[in-house]
Amino acid sequence: MYRQKSSSLMLFEEKIKLAKGLFEGIFSEFECFKSPLNAYRTRAEFGFYKDEGGLFYAMFDPKTKKKFIIEDFELAVLPIQAMMKSLLSELNLRLTLTYKLFGAEFLATKNDLSVSLLYHTDINALSFELDDLSQKLNLKLIARSKGKKLVFKGESLLQSLEIQGKTWLYELNNDCFIQPNTAINEIMIKWLLDKLATHTRDDLLEPYCGYGNFTLPLSLMFRKVLATELSKTNINFALKNASLNKAQNVNFARLSSKELMKALRGEREFYRLKGIDLKDFTFSHIFVDPPRAGLEEELLSFVAEFSNIIYISCNPQTLKRDLTVLLKTHKISNFALFDQFAKTPHLECGVILSKI
Ligand SMILES: C[S@@+](CC[C@H](N)C(=O)[O-])C[C@H]1O[C@@H](n2cnc3c(N)ncnc32)[C@H](O)[C@@H]1O
Repeated sequence: MYRQKSSSLMLFEEKIKLAKGLFEGIFSEFECFKSPLNAYRTRAEFGFYKDEGGLFYAMFDPKTKKKFIIEDFELAVLPIQAMMKSLLSELNLRLTLTYKLFGAEFLATKNDLSVSLLYHTDINALSFELDDLSQKLNLKLIARSKGKKLVFKGESLLQSLEIQGKTWLYELNNDCFIQPNTAINEIMIKWLLDKLATHTRDDLLEPYCGYGNFTLPLSLMFRKVLATELSKTNINFALKNASLNKAQNVNFARLSSKELMKALRGEREFYRLKGIDLKDFTFSHIFVDPPRAGLEEELLSFVAEFSNIIYISCNPQTLKRDLTVLLKTHKISNFALFDQFAKTPHLECGVILSKI
């Protein structure tokens, strides 16, 4: 049984041991990839706590509501750690900006950083002060309250990944899904490219593509790629990122995984697939990187139709559940454990399967 420790500090060796137990009888030859232990997280979210001593970052236990004051957050990348301090000092000098302020979200890439401040009050009234704060800190600042959003200095961030000597550029923002550990993200993409090098490859189908994080480097390995995703923001950035990297063999479309399945089975036509000829694809591989809940039940039989399955998972429990079904038709050739969330109980897995 893979039980997550309630303690927040968990070593990779312990996680490997738990994973070996969980996947016993399924696979045993894991490749393991470590992360830096600190200064790796590119996304961090905090609440606030205020008393006579001022404003503090805080986290609240969802069950007990107990608060934990956060003075340092050593897991975050250094630009986030530095901005946390500068922002808090400034907010403590600008009391109008702290009224009904309940959250801050930090997002960083190798090159860029943004902060979103979350309010339970009308942010339009704060616009002038927020603009001044953004200028003072030279910060891409977003303020949000119910149904409203204000943006100062822009909200898109540029990311660059180095994979096998090639630089990939991505634009994204705080509404995108992101892999929160850039070093591990690069390692995961490289691992896939290395493993796929020995495969016979035609076209790739990718139903949970985000803003094209894996899609673009993987497109080098395939004749054509069809990549889809539920979120409009992610898909819009994916389209931008395809042109940013001059990827000509990728089609992105906004479809849920179930809609994609229906389209490919000829059960429904979608205007969102206009201009894409589905008959033109010969898929040798499907690549799934679903949310924590894993693959929807209906998707499993669809995924099992492909000769080769690549499965990236941030939840070993749902991965195991899905593998139990996929192993009726496929066998595992490679299985990697990535310490994407170092010092926490969470573990990222990568599995490559081929049809028996
Ligand atoms: C774990 S993320 C992976 C994204 C991408 N592979 C990456 O590395 O950035 C899962 C993605 O699936 C999308 N998603 C969630 N539910 C979906 C669904 N039912 N159909 C299609 N995409 C979905 C989310 O918006 C998210 O971008």
